[in-house]
Amino acid sequence: MSLSSSETKTILVVGATGRQGRAVVRALSSFNASSASSEPPMFRILALTRTPSSSLSQSLLSLSLPHVQLHQGNLDFPAAIFESAGGFGAIWGVFSMQNNRQVKGGVEGEVRQGKQLAKEAERRGVKCFVYSGVYVGREGAKSGVPQFDSKLEIEKYLKSSDEVGNLPWIILEPVYFMDNLHPSTISTFEGKLLSTMLVKGTFSHPQTDRFQLVALSDLGRVVAKIFQSPSSYLHRTLPLAGDDLTLPDLLSTHRTVLGHDLPTTFGPFASLVKLCMVDLRTMFKREVGFEMKTWEEFLRRECLGHEGGSKTGLE
Ligand SMILES: NC(=O)c1ccc[n+]([C@@H]2O[C@H](COP(=O)([O-])OP(=O)(O)OC[C@H]3O[C@@H](n4cnc5c(N)ncnc54)[C@H](OP(=O)(O)O)[C@@H]3O)[C@@H](O)[C@H]2O)c1
Repeated sequence: MSLSSSETKTILVVGATGRQGRAVVRALSSFNASSASSEPPMFRILALTRTPSSSLSQSLLSLSLPHVQLHQGNLDFPAAIFESAGGFGAIWGVFSMQNNRQVKGGVEGEVRQGKQLAKEAERRGVKCFVYSGVYVGREGAKSGVPQFDSKLEIEKYLKSSDEVGNLPWIILEPVYFMDNLHPSTISTFEGKLLSTMLVKGTFSHPQTDRFQLVALSDLGRVVAKIFQSPSSYLHRTLPLAGDDLTLPDLLSTHRTVLGHDLPTTFGPFASLVKLCMVDLRTMFKREVGFEMKTWEEFLRRECLGHEGGSKTGLE
């Protein structure tokens, strides 16, 4: 099968019941919807879950997205995931992510799952393997944060020709998810902890340090675009950021667009690694060639539900 095949590509989406995976499923599905109804769909989407009967799996199904089906499997047993999909050659593309908080053995389990899936994908003839890690700001250098360094270890494995030399990989490095600050997330205690860490614990120079964010919906669109036409992205590492701003800008935009302050909770919980100050937004636009949502556009479109947000500044 060639990389530019116009036949339907079967894509396995890991984490499809979670936040990143669901964004990927939605984006793949909307790419399908944009192709002519007389043509075969661009993608057939296997939404991986350990538990098809769970409420999250069922809520994904209830969206009735065409050409999306739940695919039962567990990252601890990757061979079975490919076997039940039809064996060698049946899965064209894989979107891979792991959440160390849901794996036995924490970050070590995450690394094991990430590597095993890549190895199995190579054995099964996968043509495009997109791994979502995290941006830490210093190429290949360890950060000292276990859930960041685990992702670097998986990235290193993908890049090693000794390990998976025949696997066509692309690595995405998303920055902080805007969705962590969505009102539906912030309404939970865990969500407030995240916002508190950001507001009170992240920055050594809170007035001037810059901070990058990306909307999960944009991560989904990037993944769909890569699967649509992967050749120019193969064997590349792409940082993902939609906005780059200071904390005062982030807070004042939130107040202006949503009409209230970003909710926070007790300060002592706050501690997070200081993020770097490279303007990833510009870098990514140049590399991938399309706009991603700014923080203001995210608040307007995805928190208030307005389709067209101001692109030029606050109204
Ligand atoms: N928060 C941020 O700003 C940020 C930024 C960059 C990167 N990250 C990274 O993003 C990751 C979390 O992504 P997320 O928020 O999308 O995760 P999430 O919403 O917690 O979803 C986790 C998914 O993993 C699946 N899963 C867990 N164990 C599995 C297993 N053994 N086999 C198969 N599937 C399994 C779950 O599916 P089932 O339960 O249905 O099986 C679920 O769909 C973390 O690694 C984090 O470090 C976070």
